[in-house]
Amino acid sequence: MDISSRLKELAPSLTLAIDSKSKAMKASGIDIYGFGTGEPDFDTPEHIKAAAVSALEEGCTKYTTSSGLFELRKAISEKFRLDNHLEYNPDSQIVVSNGAKQSCYNAIMACIEEGDEVIIPAPYWLSYLEMVRLAGGIPVVVPTREESAWKLTASEFENAMTPKTKMIIVNSPGNPSGSVYTVEELHAISKVAVEEGIYILSDEIYEKLIYDGAEHVSIASLTSEAYGLTITVNGFSKAYAMTGWRLGYLGAPEPIACAVDSIQSHSTSNPCSFSQRGAIAALKGSQQCVADMREELNLRRKYVLSRISKIPRVTTVIPRGAFYVLINIGQLGLGSQNFVDRLLSKTNVVAIPGIAFGNDRTIRISYAASMDIIKTGLDRFEEFCQMV
Ligand SMILES: Cc1ncc(COP(=O)(O)O)c(C=O)c1O
Repeated sequence: MDISSRLKELAPSLTLAIDSKSKAMKASGIDIYGFGTGEPDFDTPEHIKAAAVSALEEGCTKYTTSSGLFELRKAISEKFRLDNHLEYNPDSQIVVSNGAKQSCYNAIMACIEEGDEVIIPAPYWLSYLEMVRLAGGIPVVVPTREESAWKLTASEFENAMTPKTKMIIVNSPGNPSGSVYTVEELHAISKVAVEEGIYILSDEIYEKLIYDGAEHVSIASLTSEAYGLTITVNGFSKAYAMTGWRLGYLGAPEPIACAVDSIQSHSTSNPCSFSQRGAIAALKGSQQCVADMREELNLRRKYVLSRISKIPRVTTVIPRGAFYVLINIGQLGLGSQNFVDRLLSKTNVVAIPGIAFGNDRTIRISYAASMDIIKTGLDRFEEFCQMV
């Protein structure tokens, strides 16, 4: 059967493969210790759910404008202004989508031509690569170093640039590293991008999950030149535990936002109408729920880090954001896929191999799991590392 040539190079998702394997084990009655998940284990806060229920009861069940309800775009515009010092006009610069994932995809589709190069610092969130390929672009993966906390430096960025470079993807706080770029680091990157007129796709989905006094800075807020080249992506999945609601958004210069809206109107149309009403409640309501979740995640993060620091031959950079710890298993002498396969079959612990993120010397564990799971899972992980 002929499948489109655009899909020929598309890599199957390693994370989904691990997910199905662990689900099959669970279904057969085996206790699984899941460190693989990319979603908060909390339920969506009650006031957000109530807003969506009211929306349904009030008949908010029809199409909305493809870029989302105006009231939501206004609330997002206000959020951008207050949290990120960014002015995006709700009429023409904000597009609400079915998740930050779709916002990233739409932005790449809007900006990338056949053969354009997109710089992606590794370790990276695995979907960026495939999105660029689907748009006909060429992903240029630039490895970062553990000593730089897995963050791309301006000179690494400069060295990776060619006349075909069209975009750089910046993800801070990052998945899988949890690293948070400082304002100085972002300044240096934006300076290079501005000099060469390169678009910046800034994925800020983990903005609210940030620890140890780290500060989240939106790269678009640094200078008007950076603002003019940046697409700022964010969403509700991680901050408000709303992964299943499928809601994200972007703010961008008007021509890009307009192109994104056009793509969306011909592909998925608007995101779910009553989810949008929930999102309005999320942004306008008390932010205590976000603070509570962050506090709980921080307790788990500290516990995980203290345990890992005691395991010989593995290292980790302290993650200041998101809910992941990237563990360097290079000294244990196994490739990351082999490591997680054996970890799963011998100890029932699920982790994600770094090869999925472009770094085979690491594995990612997520601490978006209950303390009980974390404790037992880490006992088993430690035992396994000692056996290898
Ligand atoms: C870096 C990053 N960006 C975007 C997303 C997608 O978020 P959403 O659920 O809003 O599509 C994820 C989800 O795991 C992510 O890790």
